[in-house]
Amino acid sequence: MNSADRIKGKYDRLAQFYDYLLGVQCFGRARRRQFELANIEPDHRVLIAGVGTGLDIPYLPQCREIVGVDISRAMLARAERRAAGKNVSLYEMDMHNLQFASQYFDIAIVNLVLSIVVDPHQVLAEVSRTLKVPGHIWILHRGRQAGLLREMLNVLSVGALGISVTRPIDELIEDLPLYKMTEERICMIDIIELVPTT
Ligand SMILES: C[S@@+](CC[C@H](N)C(=O)[O-])C[C@H]1O[C@@H](n2cnc3c(N)ncnc32)[C@H](O)[C@@H]1O
Repeated sequence: MNSADRIKGKYDRLAQFYDYLLGVQCFGRARRRQFELANIEPDHRVLIAGVGTGLDIPYLPQCREIVGVDISRAMLARAERRAAGKNVSLYEMDMHNLQFASQYFDIAIVNLVLSIVVDPHQVLAEVSRTLKVPGHIWILHRGRQAGLLREMLNVLSVGALGISVTRPIDELIEDLPLYKMTEERICMIDIIELVPTT
């Protein structure tokens, strides 16, 4: 079984507990603040990469198109319930290889995924390819520059949960046509806005 299959299997099993683990208040506060900052408009096309159980969906206003992708069918099944009544399309898709035209979306939401995907750099490259210029990538991420303690925690975290806590955003975007426009910390999680440089 390769790493992608392992991640998919893990989230298929986790789906029924996910909202209890991640629906906690501090993540809710971070999401609320993020969507306040994002200021999404009615004519925007929005991509939610790694939509999970759809915890972001309630924060989205009605807009032109909302598309959520995820590799876990069980997570998507839960997102479907949250999407009811909104113009949200959900697809089982690997975000390392998005099946959308270049420069299609105005906004991309990439929440709590860069620490768990196989190749976060490739994910950001793909998301960036599908983004219009100008466009905005909004991210919730925990991955500031690592110290020794963080490195040690990382070994435990990767081993036990498959979550890396040492993937600083600045390193991930180093050779991508993106720059960091906003960074704000809430409840030990970073709200980050990336915008295309060209
Ligand atoms: C920690 S959850 C975050 C879910 C959601 N973004 C949130 O904020 O609650 C990570 C999600 O990414 C999905 N995922 C992991 N690797 C993926 C990939 N390569 N392509 C698409 N989705 C992936 C998992 O199935 C899971 O639903």
